[in-house]
Amino acid sequence: MARLSGKVALITGASGGIGRAMTALFAAESAQVVASDLAAPEGGDAALALALDVTREEDWARAMDAVLDRFGRLDVLVNNAGLALTKSLEETTLEEWRRIMAVNLDGAFLGTRTAIGAMKETGGGAIVNLSSVAGIVGAPMLAAYSAAKGGLRLFTKSAALYCAERNYGIRVNSLHPGFTNTAMLDDITQAFGDAVTVKAKLARRQPLGRLAEPEEVARAALYLASDEATYMTGAELVLDGGFTAQ
Ligand SMILES: NC(=O)c1ccc[n+]([C@@H]2O[C@H](COP(=O)([O-])OP(=O)(O)OC[C@H]3O[C@@H](n4cnc5c(N)ncnc54)[C@H](O)[C@@H]3O)[C@@H](O)[C@H]2O)c1
Repeated sequence: MARLSGKVALITGASGGIGRAMTALFAAESAQVVASDLAAPEGGDAALALALDVTREEDWARAMDAVLDRFGRLDVLVNNAGLALTKSLEETTLEEWRRIMAVNLDGAFLGTRTAIGAMKETGGGAIVNLSSVAGIVGAPMLAAYSAAKGGLRLFTKSAALYCAERNYGIRVNSLHPGFTNTAMLDDITQAFGDAVTVKAKLARRQPLGRLAEPEEVARAALYLASDEATYMTGAELVLDGGFTAQ
């Protein structure tokens, strides 16, 4: 239970379903976890809790100062904060489109840029970007979200190549979960009717016959964050019960 021993890991969106599961697992694997969300997450196993709106450049600067003041280093960043919009493309406003881009894509860009600045000073690190199966295949009612997550997939590869070229020792990978049992999935499914019924139908459509649990996503993030994945960069780890294999 020490796969992240000695590492400091910053997780964004840590009050959400997947973020909470990652905070618990990373801490159990001996990381010092900095949990962050719009409001500082309460409870849980984090060594430090911070308010960090990922869309705000000044929040990132303040958060990184707090991490370096407290621990002197950052080894792992998980860009996990995310926001979905289930809406017809024709009804999506420009403001809604921009908000989805801001949280899912601008947030990961700002986080990655900030983390690179800190990680390169201490010999490297690992950045894990929470994309989605929606970043690999399209979905008629998730156009803005899909575009943002698809953008994040290729941003990840570009950032990985950038860091490799400069010998920073920083690996950058994307993680692509399928439908996962969290508040976000409740929001998405509510747009199609009763969330429980829609989720049951969705589960039957997955080759494994069920939805993912946040803990399963956390285990994949742990692998990418740990030194078990030292030859992995610019890669996309798909964790979708077979959804995109069809
Ligand atoms: N649940 C799924 O089916 C699923 C599938 C694939 C990918 N994902 C991705 O996994 C990640 C985690 O999602 P989740 O399912 O745990 O969702 P969630 O809604 O439970 O958690 C998302 C968290 O992000 C936070 N957040 C939103 N805007 C923010 C901002 N501007 N700054 C900081 N934090 C902000 C929210 O407060 C929330 O705590 C997201 O990036 C999501 O897109 C989820």
